[in-house]
Amino acid sequence: MVKVTYIQPDGSETTVDAAAGESVMQAALNNSIPGIIAECGGSMACATCHVYVAEDWLDKTGKRSESEEDMLDCAASEMNETSRLSCQITLTAAHDGLRVHVPEEQV
Ligand code: FES
Repeated sequence: MVKVTYIQPDGSETTVDAAAGESVMQAALNNSIPGIIAECGGSMACATCHVYVAEDWLDKTGKRSESEEDMLDCAASEMNETSRLSCQITLTAAHDGLRVHVPEEQV
């Protein structure tokens, strides 16, 4: 299992057990994490799965692609250097303990 912590805009945190191979988005939906909507179901066509990766995890989550960045440009909350589409982060054992911040708005 891979533990992932979702931090809400008010600072409250929820840690879930996810499976390697799942995306950060799927793990959020499976555990009813507020603020991860994922309208397009993970096909990189909506930006309602936007998260801000905690800075000390950026090395492990890797860089976003150009097309991911284009979609993040349409996100409801402003994109910054830590922004990712959570459907594009596939969990591995190396992500155990990952922390992501849920934006204020997704739509
Ligand atoms: Fe739509 Fe991630 S779920 S872009």
